[in-house]
Amino acid sequence: MTVHTTLSVSHLTVKFGGLVALDDVYLEVPSNSIVGLIGPNGAGKTTVFNSISGLVPVTSGEIAIYGKSVGWPKSYELAAYGIARTLQGVGLFNGLSVIENVMMGANSQSGSNFIKDLFGLSGQAEKKLRRRAEDALAWAGALVLADKNPSELTYPETKRISIARALVMEPKILLLDEPAAGLGQDDIDKFAELLKQLKRKCSIMIVEHHVDFIGQISDRVYVLNFGKVIASGSFDSVKRDPAVLAAYLGTSHQTGNEHLGGF
Ligand SMILES: Nc1ncnc2c1ncn2[C@@H]1O[C@H](COP(=O)(O)OP(=O)(O)OP(=O)(O)O)[C@@H](O)[C@H]1O
Ligand SMILES: [Mg+2]
Repeated sequence: MTVHTTLSVSHLTVKFGGLVALDDVYLEVPSNSIVGLIGPNGAGKTTVFNSISGLVPVTSGEIAIYGKSVGWPKSYELAAYGIARTLQGVGLFNGLSVIENVMMGANSQSGSNFIKDLFGLSGQAEKKLRRRAEDALAWAGALVLADKNPSELTYPETKRISIARALVMEPKILLLDEPAAGLGQDDIDKFAELLKQLKRKCSIMIVEHHVDFIGQISDRVYVLNFGKVIASGSFDSVKRDPAVLAAYLGTSHQTGNEHLGGF
């Protein structure tokens, strides 16, 4: 492991009662890269994210940031760790403009009372935060939407705003759980371009069922099955891996990537 690794996880085991949801999982997210995490339903993908973001208790394992071993973060410590995740299903506040919603992202993951904090800011602090929010919106390709009301946004636009809301924390690593869900092919392509730009700014770890999308954007892919990493490497190598084909198809005799399109 080198300092060029933003985040690494080793020997991660998570048990829910008698269920071993994760079993000795390892992964490494190189700096300025996109790492895809795929696997069948129930494989443990979200549990990896939940472990990294302090939402489930970890049974055992280590986590390191920039090569330095740290404790597993609590959810309110994420900002301090430089970790941000987009929160699925958390809507935008219609009473606030897009940019105000993004400004609130600065505190929403640090455990403080962010509405009170936002309105309690001094003029200068508010200006500074507004500039950060503009920067985040620009990275998310959504600066033109700053003054809109969330109710005016299209669905793909709300996806961009949720990215901006995470970016306003200036994270070292961004965790995205199924960000392409519900997007059409055109918007998936645009989103792929956005993420490729974004990795100049931070590392990205992404869980997604759209395997073509993962193939399009990922520098490295990990495949989970029944809580274990069964393959890792480039998308092209893992999609041909017999263990991966077996996990998705229930047979190890299939070859060719067309079969991976179906899961
Ligand atoms: N908080 C929890 N308490 C108990 N069991 C859980 C909890 N979270 C996840 N599990 C179980 O752990 C296993 C892994 O679940 P997880 O949600 O991580 O899978 P996943 O790969 O994200 O699946 P999907 O593709 O369906 O989102 C499943 O058997 C699930 O039922
Ligand atoms: Mg999941």
